[in-house]
Amino acid sequence: MTEDLSLEFLRVVEQAAIACAHTMGQGDRHLSDQVAVEAMRKEMDSLPIDGTIVIGEGERDEAPMLFIGEKVGLANKGHGGRFPAVDIAVDPLEGTNLCATGDNNAIAVLAAAPKGGLLHAPDLYMEKLVVGPASRHVVDLDAPVKDNLKAIAKANGREVRDLVVIVLDRPRHEKLIEEIRTAGARIRLIGDGDLSAGITAAVMGSGVHAVMGSGGAPEGVITAAAMRCLNGEIFARLVVSKPEHEERCLAMGITDFKKVYRSADLACGENIIFAATGVTEGTLMKGVRFFGDGVRTASMVMQTHPHQVRFIDSMHILSNHDNAKLRF
Ligand code: FBP
Repeated sequence: MTEDLSLEFLRVVEQAAIACAHTMGQGDRHLSDQVAVEAMRKEMDSLPIDGTIVIGEGERDEAPMLFIGEKVGLANKGHGGRFPAVDIAVDPLEGTNLCATGDNNAIAVLAAAPKGGLLHAPDLYMEKLVVGPASRHVVDLDAPVKDNLKAIAKANGREVRDLVVIVLDRPRHEKLIEEIRTAGARIRLIGDGDLSAGITAAVMGSGVHAVMGSGGAPEGVITAAAMRCLNGEIFARLVVSKPEHEERCLAMGITDFKKVYRSADLACGENIIFAATGVTEGTLMKGVRFFGDGVRTASMVMQTHPHQVRFIDSMHILSNHDNAKLRF
């Protein structure tokens, strides 16, 4: 994957975000997801790649498109020529509930790497600890919460009481939340979206210092791709608590169920691309805005080669009229 495909992937997340943004607040999370998936799938096939979905909407029998193993890109549309083999992890709408209720931080997102560059993770829960560049060498997934918080505070030149930790608001996190409160750090409880939360934690100046708790493993792999680009770190371990979970891991070639993964394990590709577009208003990106003659989107496109992080503000002009009104 020597070609710079980052702007090609930008188109894909922009179109997914625009499609599902029209369903914002309609209260139908499945519809929101479905239109994002359809738009992402359509755009993906115009890319000059020989792509394989390695993290997607599920297995072939449960997902009509963007299923794990699905081939995408021009190479699979009967076009001649040589196309780079690319593995892709997609989350066409991260935060389906957030979009359905018009809440903040729903995004359309994907990560891509040369073949073999992203872990094929089963759709299980994953314990996660996500931190920014300053804290990446001082925390440990198995350390007591209070020790990690002390270390993060020291690395960031702050007191523990100054820190903000994002946690998914779930009953399974009751003990974790209690431990963070007892240590004295501040908490932002979120309804959904630990992937965009993780990105926020790795961006200096966002006012967020860590994400803790368990969430989806697929989201963990995409977070790892973002961490590779942002020099942040995810520490993660699959939650394997039943024989059925073990079987699902084994089917994906995972034999060490207790392994603590870091970003470079989950997204090991030398060349990583990450692209996300805001669907609803967000901490890092604005949501999709529609106006008479067009649509405006805010995106983040990052890659490791060349190593760059771009915030892209796009105006998509729908009207061909010379007098199309562009409201900046
Ligand atoms: P969806 O976009 O599929 O709705 O997932 C949102 C999400 O909040 C993720 O960000 C998170 O990793 C996962 O769901 C948590 O799962 P659960 O809702 O089961 O706690």
